Amino acid sequence: MSNSRPVVVLTHPILEPGPTLLKEATELRVMASQYRHPVELLRKAAEGAQGMVTQLMDTINEEVLSTPGLKIVSNVAVGFDNIDVPAATRCGVLVTNTPGILDDTTSDFAFALLMAAGRRVLEGDGFIRSGAFKGWAIDMLLGHDISGATLGIVGFGRIGRGVARRARGFGMRVLYCDEMPATPEVEAELEVTRADLETLLSEADFVSIHVPLTETTRHLVSTPQLERMKSTAVLVNTSRGPVVDEVALAAALKAQTIFAAGLDVYEREPEVNPELLQLENVVLAPHIASASVRTRSRMSETAVLNCLAGVRGERPPNLLNPEVFDQRR
Ligand code: GLV
Repeated sequence: MSNSRPVVVLTHPILEPGPTLLKEATELRVMASQYRHPVELLRKAAEGAQGMVTQLMDTINEEVLSTPGLKIVSNVAVGFDNIDVPAATRCGVLVTNTPGILDDTTSDFAFALLMAAGRRVLEGDGFIRSGAFKGWAIDMLLGHDISGATLGIVGFGRIGRGVARRARGFGMRVLYCDEMPATPEVEAELEVTRADLETLLSEADFVSIHVPLTETTRHLVSTPQLERMKSTAVLVNTSRGPVVDEVALAAALKAQTIFAAGLDVYEREPEVNPELLQLENVVLAPHIASASVRTRSRMSETAVLNCLAGVRGERPPNLLNPEVFDQRR
């Protein structure tokens, strides 16, 4: 019986109940620990496997996807820019992600960065720890109000909408930009107004980015966009690092042509632009927007369930290239 179990590769550790589910149903191969596996190693690992459970550090390109017998690549993330989905479709490999699970957790964190950057929470912490705090002062660490401010949301999918929902509690005016307009019902419910990117950037006090990384969104925010922003504005990025031109952002923060930034993602993770590390008006988080115990565990479980469905020839719940499954039938 055991030799009929599908072979599944786990490229990096995941949280329970993911590993238990995999061990019960598959012949599990766990890759040796390293942050970024070379493509050649991923290709070798895929040999003889029907499924792979991958993470955003794994570059899954045609070289990996063309491995004979591979049926599914299941990413433990909502973003899937690390996987060449058109190549997967050409190779007849199913690709899945974990949507809908991390929206609240990520929206919460975008708000945490927004508030920390706007109200200088980390600078305050550093100030105390350095022994500089000698008592209340009227002009100490002045930031900018969140209540009543204008929030610009770039990318109005599930997470962008989650941020809009939170902004209502702060009495914010919310603008959004997205190539797909939300329905009038959603706009009315969330009290949001659609704007083009230029208008949003020039009117917003806080700008929060929630677009996927594609060739169109790479460096969506660079010098011309930063120049449109108010000198009092705060930029928050919890999407993907390359959506923001880090060199341009560091220059704007240094010259204080914008007030502050809150970042969870970077252009070349785990590297962070050294200019950013020198600046006090940026809050830096290590890609943890979805990192709550519950959410990361649910992401792990969902990715495993997607993978198990794929290796069994069933339709995985979160299929990104349904045409592959439909053609097989
Ligand atoms: C994390 O960045 C994700 O895409 O889930």
